[in-house]
Amino acid sequence: MKKRELTISVDVYADCHELETADAQLLDLARKATVDAYAPYSRFRVGAAVRLANGKMLTGTNQENASFPAGICAERVALSAASALYPGIGVTDLAVSFFHEEGKNDRPISPCGICRQTLTEYEIRAGQPIRLILGGSAGEIFVLTSAADLLPFAFTSSEIK
Ligand code: THU
Repeated sequence: MKKRELTISVDVYADCHELETADAQLLDLARKATVDAYAPYSRFRVGAAVRLANGKMLTGTNQENASFPAGICAERVALSAASALYPGIGVTDLAVSFFHEEGKNDRPISPCGICRQTLTEYEIRAGQPIRLILGGSAGEIFVLTSAADLLPFAFTSSEIK
């Protein structure tokens, strides 16, 4: 038996003023997008903003449904919009923010399991990592260099070939 240890590295910023300008701009878009979320059931408004390799930026918000499993997360809305509008252009950065109408909003959230799986597919398709910029409406911000760091031992297309 041998042991393998996996480590990930996260840059923690005290607030958005410490971020690089481009990252602060993308997080600001994600924060502003939370206003447009359709989240009448959870009241947990999530905004995501992607930057593409061609410099374009797009946002997405969570879209809930009375049939709860039909709802979709902000991250996958933003990724799908990017792929539909700019097919073949990779996503280089994704910012995620949220606003909970009845909770605290001063900490980062990170993508759910399904979004991690989706992000992994987008990274593989484009052959480039997607940086993650994760922050609430205020407070600390986490920056990761690749979404793959959040999904070790990912199930990928190579498994079904
Ligand atoms: N949600 C997202 O949009 N992104 C995440 O990373 C976590 C959860 C949404 C799904 C649902 O509409 C609400 O937040 C509560 O789970």
